[in-house]
Amino acid sequence: MQKAIQDALNEQINREFYASYLYLAMAAHFEAQSLDGFAGWMYAQSEEEYGHAMRILKYMLERGAQVELKAIAAPPEEFGSPLDIFKQALAHEQHVTQAIHALYKLAAEHEDYPTMKHLDWFIEEQVEEEDTVGRIVDRLQMAGDDRAALLMLDSELAQRSGEEESDEA
Ligand code: FEO
Repeated sequence: MQKAIQDALNEQINREFYASYLYLAMAAHFEAQSLDGFAGWMYAQSEEEYGHAMRILKYMLERGAQVELKAIAAPPEEFGSPLDIFKQALAHEQHVTQAIHALYKLAAEHEDYPTMKHLDWFIEEQVEEEDTVGRIVDRLQMAGDDRAALLMLDSELAQRSGEEESDEA
């Protein structure tokens, strides 16, 4: 594997671990506030992100590339409202999507076809993730200051996180 691709994939592993850490911090925040459905959703999301990092790590090893685990930045210690948090999650997913697209472009420039193929899964996954988080943002916006609506959404997400755990990638 060419050095530029190896470096970029190592960066992406770090980005995925950071996402896992960020969602874990959000999960802990929600659990501390007794919003167990939001917390469960975020715990599941955090595990998914760990899975994304591992998917790249395993791929690199298959290709005989050198894996470099870099320091994971600390996530924020304080968070705003549920709407703020999900907006932050959406912005993070958009950032990850851009990074995946840049990686794909780099792989194409270097004619690294196996890496392009490997990244296909991530490109599709990002479409799904942005859609899922975007819908939660919409629902939270509709709920506004209505606490009953917020609790209903919390219960709904509790069911959803259970479903997602069973078909984890
Ligand atoms: Fe691994 Fe949510 O992107």
